[in-house]
Amino acid sequence: MKNITVIGTSYVGLTTGACFADMGNQVVGIDVDEEKIARLRQGILPIHEPGLQEVVVRNANAGRLRFTTSYEEGMREAEFVFIAVGTPDDGKGGADLSQVRTAAQSIAEALTRPVIVINKSTVPIGTGDLVTSIIDEHKQSDISFSVVSNPEFLREGSALADCMNPDRVVLGSTDRAAAETVATLYLSLKCPMIITDLRTAEMIKYASNAFLAARISFINEIAAICEQLGADVKEVALGMGFDKRIGPAFLEAGLGFGGSCFPKDVKALMWMAQEAGQHPQLLQAVMDINRDRRQWVIQRLRDRLGDLHSKRIALLGLAFKPNTDDVREAPSLEVIAHLQAAGACVAAYDPVAMGNAAAVTEGVEFCSDAYAAAAGSDAVVLITEWNEFKNLDLERIKASMHRPILLDGRNLYEHDELRRMGFDYLGVARGGGPVEAVREQQVIR
Ligand code: UGA
Repeated sequence: MKNITVIGTSYVGLTTGACFADMGNQVVGIDVDEEKIARLRQGILPIHEPGLQEVVVRNANAGRLRFTTSYEEGMREAEFVFIAVGTPDDGKGGADLSQVRTAAQSIAEALTRPVIVINKSTVPIGTGDLVTSIIDEHKQSDISFSVVSNPEFLREGSALADCMNPDRVVLGSTDRAAAETVATLYLSLKCPMIITDLRTAEMIKYASNAFLAARISFINEIAAICEQLGADVKEVALGMGFDKRIGPAFLEAGLGFGGSCFPKDVKALMWMAQEAGQHPQLLQAVMDINRDRRQWVIQRLRDRLGDLHSKRIALLGLAFKPNTDDVREAPSLEVIAHLQAAGACVAAYDPVAMGNAAAVTEGVEFCSDAYAAAAGSDAVVLITEWNEFKNLDLERIKASMHRPILLDGRNLYEHDELRRMGFDYLGVARGGGPVEAVREQQVIR
């Protein structure tokens, strides 16, 4: 049993704290947001994350997990202090480190015994050194501490499972003994562990996210080509994925990536590269291709409906991916903005993200379910592949629509079946593109 303090109670902090408590440790979660802490003490979570509430409540009831706004109280017994605060886009492409700086200073001021400070937030390369210097500057002189980078790879929507079954644990420090001590916290997870230096660990996080984002943009570029040449990108991805060097994951073409991580981290890596005199061409293309995916919806609707002015367009799904209520950088928000700019009326339904979407949009009609959104619409657009959309009564949807146009931005449905039902159905590069036209041109040549 170790005494662990986690600063930050959002996706990474709360999940990390809950998992360490569940492994038998004594955990305190610190957050500066008093309301958040008050609600957590009542077992109410600030985020929608499958299974997490149960683990938080179970461990809180067992006395292994508690929450406070006070660093003094939260750090009293701490042997390990995890920083898991937000590092949002600073508006210039870099990462805003103000929360990390505040956390580091607050740790230093509350330090009464030697600790290992572990950074889990995604931070620009060199931030571990910054944290070290802030703590050095603000602590009482005779207390020792070490800083370890321990990037987190969990995904929203499957945070708990990812935290308990990581593909690997990465630890980096100038103090190898400290990194090895942190490694002991993870021994029971029985996963590969990489111990390296501080900057390399920080870079592993950015490189991993950028690579995954690049895979998505790669398959989306292939999708755009498939669409023109009449090939089916889902089967192309399947055929590629069997190659062990490629693998099947993260090859789903669609409306591109969103969320609080990929867009921010690719941009931050580009910014770091440029600051260091590099020209990150591939990363720029990854972002450009992703931006263009949102336009696919508008272009395809225009192909079918012409002018979108006053057309009622129903969006199914608003969250940036299923199983989360997070709409940060969600494709839905850009699609809504494009549709509204074209004069369309937007109706939308999402199982859990409507509250968050309502806070950042205007003029959207939020509906009680998919059927209410689809009723009277000129087209339905599937934006997020929630499970509940897989088994919709599509006959009912079709019967209630003004025109039976269904754009499937995530290739959730089978096109043959939908077309048989009488939908004017279009998935992302599911074959049947203008291949005949291409063939004709070839014949002419
Ligand atoms: C991502 C990484 O997957 C995590 O490993 C990492 O820890 C996290 O960022 C982070 O840095 O905090 P997350 O953003 O929660 O996790 O979600 P993903 O499952 O990676 O999906 C990101 C976006 O890519 C979603 O919008 C999803 O719809 C899209 N995506 C994913 C595709 O368009 N195609 C795919 O094949 C896969």
